[in-house]
Amino acid sequence: MTWLSTGETAAPGDLVALASTKTNYFIFRLEEGGKFETHRGIIRHDDLIGTKWGSEVVSHKGSSFYMLQPGIYEILSNTKRNTQIMYPKDIGFILMKMNIAPGTTIIEAGTGSGGLTQILALMVGKEGHVYSYERREEMTNLARKNVQKLGLQDQVTFYNRSIEDGFEQKNVDAVFLDLPNPYDYVQQVRDALIPGGQFGSLLPTTNQIVKLLLEMRRMDFEFVDVVELMLRFYQAEAEKFRPVDRMVAHTGYLVFGRPILRAVCEEEQP
Ligand SMILES: C[S@@+](CC[C@H](N)C(=O)[O-])C[C@H]1O[C@@H](n2cnc3c(N)ncnc32)[C@H](O)[C@@H]1O
Repeated sequence: MTWLSTGETAAPGDLVALASTKTNYFIFRLEEGGKFETHRGIIRHDDLIGTKWGSEVVSHKGSSFYMLQPGIYEILSNTKRNTQIMYPKDIGFILMKMNIAPGTTIIEAGTGSGGLTQILALMVGKEGHVYSYERREEMTNLARKNVQKLGLQDQVTFYNRSIEDGFEQKNVDAVFLDLPNPYDYVQQVRDALIPGGQFGSLLPTTNQIVKLLLEMRRMDFEFVDVVELMLRFYQAEAEKFRPVDRMVAHTGYLVFGRPILRAVCEEEQP
């Protein structure tokens, strides 16, 4: 089961988003006999089953919602969290830059709330795999629940331990670190990655980046990039089309690089 339905109408087991505005929506799975309840009223799942996607539906208190298939963006924004999760703008670029596609094997740490994990699991598909490491048990449990909610559990293996002692995998295609001190684990990354594979990390401060760059140089990583992405939304109204008042000014810097194998030069004969 994935999160997208293939039918024209909603069916039991489908994941639905009931949205009243672009930022106010509720995501849940349809069950025969189930009920969606909020302070804005109740909607019976049986009334949604068989309804066309995109339809307006009304609660018993008269509040109206649109029934939509949740997209990746809504799934991520709606992720239950106990840690800061990664932003869609950063994840989107990471997927492209690190070539995450069906069949990719990737290690990530720390799992945190599983914001990134669920998108990686979706992207690598059944042919690929995500190995996700986290040292706090309560975070692993939350991430596992988030991944299960989307039916993607077969694509992820969770490890509840610190990555200090390295990873159990070798020759994976990619490793992504979202934890405060990635510069302490560059050797572990190198040991797990296929030579020429993709390494990425997200860091909030420039001080951390400098430390990571030095370690990456020491460990023979090349093709290094540091990126900061800024995203500005606009008020999508024809009569007052202009930027929105607020924006997320800083999420983090992204660092990328690839471990290489240098040619061994034979010493010149005298
Ligand atoms: C910012 S959160 C990761 C958020 C995640 N990328 C997401 O999108 O939900 C950082 C996580 O790294 C974990 N962590 C920190 N150091 C670690 C280590 N050495 N090994 C494993 N996990 C670690 C923390 O417990 C925390 O849950």
